[in-house]
Parts: sequence; C-alpha cells; structure tokens
Amino acid sequence: APQQLLAGKKVTITAGPTREALDPVRYLSNHSSGKMGFAIAAAAARAGAEVTLIAGPVRLATPAGVKRVDVVSTDDMLAAAEQAADDCDLFIAAAAVVDFRPAVVAAQKIKKEDGNDSDVLQLVKNPDIVATIAARSDKRPFVVGFAAETEKVTEHAESKLTRKNLDMIVANDVSDPEGGFNSDRNAVIVIDRSGQHPLPAALKTELAAELIALIAARAFAK
Ligand code: C5P
Repeated sequence: APQQLLAGKKVTITAGPTREALDPVRYLSNHSSGKMGFAIAAAAARAGAEVTLIAGPVRLATPAGVKRVDVVSTDDMLAAAEQAADDCDLFIAAAAVVDFRPAVVAAQKIKKEDGNDSDVLQLVKNPDIVATIAARSDKRPFVVGFAAETEKVTEHAESKLTRKNLDMIVANDVSDPEGGFNSDRNAVIVIDRSGQHPLPAALKTELAAELIALIAARAFAK
C-alpha cells in the first residue's frame, strides 16, 4: 500500500484549461488536457488526502475518492478556488488559465457583416488565481504553482516563484517532445527556496506520485 503521506490533509488542485466566451457560439481557450492535474489529484487521494479538484472543461474521468468541481471561465475557477482554499492545507495550481478574456461577451453571435474588422476583440486581463491564493495573510495554504516554459526554463520559473509568492514551483519545458500539454509523459524541475530538484521523464501518473511525495516532505515536514 502507498504511504499515507497526506493523511488528514486537505488538498485543492486546479486542472485543465479555462474557457472565455466571446459570444454565444465562440470562446478563447488553450490545448491543456488536464492530465497532469488529474494525475496529481489521484496521487494525493492515494496518499490519504481529502482532495477537491477544480476542473476546467476536459474529457477526463474523476479520480477515485476525489471531490470534483467543474468550472468553465477563469472567474468561476477563481471563485471555486477561493472557497476551497478557506479550508485547505495545500493548494496546487496545475490549470492552464487563459490570461485574457473579451472585455464584453456579445449577447448575439458577432457578425463580420456588422462592420467588424481586425479590432473586433477588446481583451482585459484575467485575475491570477494562484497569486491571489498565495497573497493571503489569513487562511493561506502551502501553495504550489506550475511554469510551462519554452526557454530559460528555471530562470523564468524562479521569477514566477518570487513574483507570485509561491512556496514551490514545478517547471516544465513544453518545447521538449518528451512532455507537455497533451502527452502522457512529462519531465519537470521542482524549485523552492532550498534549491532545484529535477524529476526525470516519466508517465504523468508516476511523476504525480513523486511530486506528491516531494511536496508532502516540504510542506508538512515534522
Ligand atoms: O504566469 P503563468 O501563467 O506562466 O503561471 C503559471 C502558474 O500560475 C500555474 O500554476 C497556473 O495554474 C497559475 N495561474 C493562475 N491564474 C492565472 C494564470 C496562471 O492560477 N490567471
């Protein structure tokens, strides 16, 4: 049986993409499959945690023993995250959140015949979910973020760790054909204030178990 490294702990995980409506038939989103976040949720549950998985629109089965909250937009994911984080020991942000959303959602389908041109979309910045949770002074869980990068991977990840006030960041080179968005495999470098811990390429399910062991040791070391 797996070690119950997270027995008695409450863990919240965000996973998958978010989706921002432009009008009743269109949206902005990305190619996130949610596989890494769902694998982490499964590993945390196996490690004895009480897990809340806040999932954007993905086609994945809910892992055994996990409470799933389905959301679509970034604002909805933030609201679900704020609520879950109020009673939570560990917050892991694996979601690929859409950075910008349309300033207005058109009530009717946007038509090219209506004089719309290349400036048809006005965007506004979305809230940063993990930074919002990490900025708390009260009810602040241990906060782990992800950084999907294509160059200067550890440098960019370290600056995110600091800028977003995270306790730990999982850096992921998405230009590496061995890992990334839709792959079943991934390789990461985990960074915290004590240094860097590379986890070599493995199935996302195996990597998730290693990540949970590493996070549990750092967050709840006795
Ligand atoms: O800045 P960047 O999007 O690369 O940061 C990635 C990390 O921040 C991930 O942990 C992601 O889940 C989180 N994030 C978030 N809300 C956003 C943007 C990113 O929680 N609006």
